[in-house]
Amino acid sequence: MKILIINGPNLNLLGKREPGTYGSQNFESYFDQLQEKFPEVELEYYQSNIEGEIIDRLQAAEEAFDGIVLNAAAYTHTSVGIGDAVKAIATPVVEVHISNVTAREEFRHNSFIAPYAKGIIIGFGLRGYELAIKSF
Ligand code: DQA
Repeated sequence: MKILIINGPNLNLLGKREPGTYGSQNFESYFDQLQEKFPEVELEYYQSNIEGEIIDRLQAAEEAFDGIVLNAAAYTHTSVGIGDAVKAIATPVVEVHISNVTAREEFRHNSFIAPYAKGIIIGFGLRGYELAIKSF
């Protein structure tokens, strides 16, 4: 099985960005742990701070992957384009958020991706990515 993890804006700063909310581990070291935990799964990781690049990656992933784990970060709440891309591709997408977005500011309650996602995992910290991989 091939699974692509896509992280959106500012998630390249995990580990030093708001550690009280997002924890103190950077994603690269967590990704190493994921690869050890799921040796049978071919995992790939992509991060971009640019909306159009995330859309390009989603489109290119169709057919090449069995599933996509997407944390579009702030674009979750603003991007019709990323929502449309998730809708457009046949590959199932699981939406992940490290924090419990529903317990935070009102603007984080809306997701343009959720209606087209296979499922949503929020509030379990980095462990959410692991739960998402297990869901495929
Ligand atoms: C986030 C939640 C978003 O609201 C925020 O903009 C992020 C991270 C999360 O993983 O909890 O950057 O997607």
